[in-house]
Amino acid sequence: MYLQRRNRITRRSEAIRGLVAETVLTPNDFILPLFIDEGKDIVYEIPSMPGYYRRSLDKTLQEVRELWDLGIKSILLFVKTNDSTKDNTGKESWNPDGLMQRAIKAIKDAVPEMVVMTDVALDPYSQYGHDGIVDVKSGYILNDETVDALTKMSLSHADAGADFIAPSDMMDGRIGVFRKALEENGHSGVGIMSYSAKYASCFYGPFRDALDSAPGFGDKKTYQMNYANRIEAINETLQDVQQGADIVMVKPAMAYLDIVREVKNAVTVPVSAYHVSGEYAMIKAAAKMGWLDEQKTVLESLTSIKRAGADLIATYFAKDVLQLLG
Ligand code: PBG
Repeated sequence: MYLQRRNRITRRSEAIRGLVAETVLTPNDFILPLFIDEGKDIVYEIPSMPGYYRRSLDKTLQEVRELWDLGIKSILLFVKTNDSTKDNTGKESWNPDGLMQRAIKAIKDAVPEMVVMTDVALDPYSQYGHDGIVDVKSGYILNDETVDALTKMSLSHADAGADFIAPSDMMDGRIGVFRKALEENGHSGVGIMSYSAKYASCFYGPFRDALDSAPGFGDKKTYQMNYANRIEAINETLQDVQQGADIVMVKPAMAYLDIVREVKNAVTVPVSAYHVSGEYAMIKAAAKMGWLDEQKTVLESLTSIKRAGADLIATYFAKDVLQLLG
């Protein structure tokens, strides 16, 4: 055959494929979530997240030093709080001596350059396992009261030294309120990575095991988005940008790559995608069965998320990928 164009020419060898690759993962792409527990000397493997751990603060500090040396630039902190501190106001979440606040300080002391991001939502502090304050009569999550509580939480994270707060609660209007509170309280340098398009997803199951934070009743569908919707994601995201979000997020990632792309096309701030606990668990489970090659699946998944438009990827595989990238 005489062909004017032969597309396979640029696929001929590893070297040529590398030269023309449109998407390349780098250490700057990743945010690693970390689960922190009270106590000492604890490294607990999360049953539904094999190879992933919840650590006490002393062990977390060791890990963070290692992560920095490996090239991880950013971590996203979550804490597991004792049941005795949980109530319906979530007040432990803004305790200046709470686990999160102590963790932020200790990590920034140990590795000042590490970009510390913190989850802002009430679920680890709520006796009901919900992201906000529950109206006990109706079971509805109260929006404005929750935003008040989360504002205190956000400020306490900023006071402790957080670089970015990451509100994952999906209450209305929170980004503008947090931005204003940060400005007015001497934290104009603290950023907001907003979980803007966060869907009510079954893929968060293992995370709720990790923090023992599953909702005690009902589900999160009155605040997290319906996975049937696309345009709503753009609306939410544009509002968050307008209210002052520095980075926006789509969550989960793999089943929502269309949303990642549309959000990327719609905004001019960096877009992150959260490759969530259930996505981690699926790959681990299939790999354990010998049905998928773990390393190849991880690289393909994360490259696809970046190709879809994510500038940043929060993933439990961040450490593995950096090791793979060498
Ligand atoms: C808390 C929060 C959740 C996740 C991040 N922040 C759980 C939820 O909304 O129920 C999920 C992360 C994951 O599954 O990896 N608001």
